Amino acid sequence: MAKKPAKASTKKPSDQAAKTAATGYHMGSTDTVISVEDVVREVEKMGTDVSKDDVAKLAHNDPFIRIDNLKAGYGQMEILHDFNLQVGRGQSLCLIGPNGAGKSTILHSIYGFTNIFSGDIKITANGNETNITTLNPNEKLKKAGIAYILQDKSVFPDMTVEENLWMGGFLMEKPDDAKEAAERVFEKYDRLAARRNNPARVLSGGERRLLEISRALVMQPDVLLVDEPSIGLEPRFIDMVFDILDDLQNNEGKTIIMVEQNAKKGLEFADIGYVLVSGGLAMAGSGEELLQDPEVGRLFLGG
Ligand SMILES: Nc1ncnc2c1ncn2[C@@H]1O[C@H](COP(=O)(O)OP(=O)(O)OP(=O)(O)O)[C@@H](O)[C@H]1O
Ligand SMILES: [Mg+2]
Repeated sequence: MAKKPAKASTKKPSDQAAKTAATGYHMGSTDTVISVEDVVREVEKMGTDVSKDDVAKLAHNDPFIRIDNLKAGYGQMEILHDFNLQVGRGQSLCLIGPNGAGKSTILHSIYGFTNIFSGDIKITANGNETNITTLNPNEKLKKAGIAYILQDKSVFPDMTVEENLWMGGFLMEKPDDAKEAAERVFEKYDRLAARRNNPARVLSGGERRLLEISRALVMQPDVLLVDEPSIGLEPRFIDMVFDILDDLQNNEGKTIIMVEQNAKKGLEFADIGYVLVSGGLAMAGSGEELLQDPEVGRLFLGG
């Protein structure tokens, strides 16, 4: 696993950072969860110098989408500093890290919502690498096959489930294409088909998340950018959402880049895991490696 050689801390968490904090990371009992401030402080000590070689190896040196030396942010403010990312076709990557580390900003940058100061975002299709750094979001979706699944509350509550799906095809040349794509979604997901004529507001949290994901599928994207798929969901729906993403990756060959606060779920799911801190990479490894890593366990898994 790639990681700065210097250990994050020589002190044990038990006497120094363990707190009964109400906030913090999931999956631990409250007395093993450390506060968000402590997580930030400790992860910052790791530094952010994971090499590009390590990032490339995790994508088997055959990236489908890659980010090179990206400096990006909002207005004049730089949030991502020299950030690198590589994911192979059909792989999944999960970004974890403290609040404010810049995880969502990475997805925003790929989709075209940030100011990019320098660096490149590229996608490889049929052996040809295309630079997509400056495409706007509509072009990203239509030309580059990248879909961004919004974090929570993005369905139109007063529109029916069906109409919500049609909205996913707003960039299609013909409205009928969107309708056809919606039918494909209904064939795949009975839960949505059963509710097609109901207003989206009656959906359960899990069904709403399913609608958000499948609305993005209308354009048949190759890459799914997913920000916190489990947020606000009760456990049985969290499992449902991860099953859906698993199916999309493994049966439909989608490439998935996700941000997930539920680090355990995210790393169990993903082929590749990155720990982001202060706009840079503190660690990169397979999801499995990060799950087993004691520092990750202590800081993000509540153990
Ligand atoms: N639209 C915006 N305009 C200005 N600054 C922003 C904007 N969105 C995010 N930021 C700032 O960028 C930094 C990184 O935010 P980002 O949302 O990427 O963090 P994150 O890692 O996704 O955190 P969280 O876990 O809380 O979602 C923060 O300091 C945040 O205040
Ligand atoms: Mg975020």
